Amino acid sequence: MRITQKTLQRMCNSGEKIAALTCYDASFASLLENSGVDILLVGDSLGNVLQGEKTTLSVTLDDMIYHTKCVFQGSVKAFIMADMPFGTSQVSPQKTFENAVKLISSGASMVKIEGGSVMADTVRFLSQRGIPVCSHIGLMPQSVNMLGGYKVQGKSINQANQLLEDAVIMEKAGAGMLLMEAIPATLSRKITKKLTIPTIGIGAGVDCDAQVLVLYDILGIYSGKKSRFTKNYMDGARSINQAVENYVKEVKSKKFPKIENGF
Ligand code: KIV
Repeated sequence: MRITQKTLQRMCNSGEKIAALTCYDASFASLLENSGVDILLVGDSLGNVLQGEKTTLSVTLDDMIYHTKCVFQGSVKAFIMADMPFGTSQVSPQKTFENAVKLISSGASMVKIEGGSVMADTVRFLSQRGIPVCSHIGLMPQSVNMLGGYKVQGKSINQANQLLEDAVIMEKAGAGMLLMEAIPATLSRKITKKLTIPTIGIGAGVDCDAQVLVLYDILGIYSGKKSRFTKNYMDGARSINQAVENYVKEVKSKKFPKIENGF
């Protein structure tokens, strides 16, 4: 049986850590879920790792639909989340809904939308119409041109307060999960305590309910810039399956991320 949003909420309520990885195709979808991964994120990071782009900005809705279908075909158990690529959620709530429908009908159980409280109306519109949404705050790669690079967010008191407020507003707007990227561990702990929905961290410390990393980073095959929040699980592993199983084990037992993987 496929993992649902309810399953993830139950895991969160009981304190069981949730393991997530990005995934873009059927073969890896099957391998990852058989190695214990709970959530397969069809991330727009495919722009970087599959298409060789410097940013995620050129990824299209058609790209996301294609890869979501591939992941869905290869999996029977995992919860599938798909990113809404740049330009497809920064439009009216109605248009965003129409775009999100295409990802849900391709096999996603939830869409992920970058943006804090400015996206609250959109998140409310979608969730009231049956589309589960994960809000992505902190470092938002689609806003790289506004942020001036891939920088840690929430370091000043004002920024931290803003992120906490964003998180609360998104939960109230109906977000089913909250992803926090590259923010201080102390802040993500505070946000996780405050919310009832599961939080997912990437470079956000060990106290998030779930952890996610980019698959090609943990397999050590991405030649681009390496972030301190990732780890190469192929080091010392005999196979890809073993590397992924070790990642899942470390997430579930809170051995990953370590302090040095965070900010
Ligand atoms: O696209 C992606 O891989 C993501 C992760 C960085 C969380 O959104």
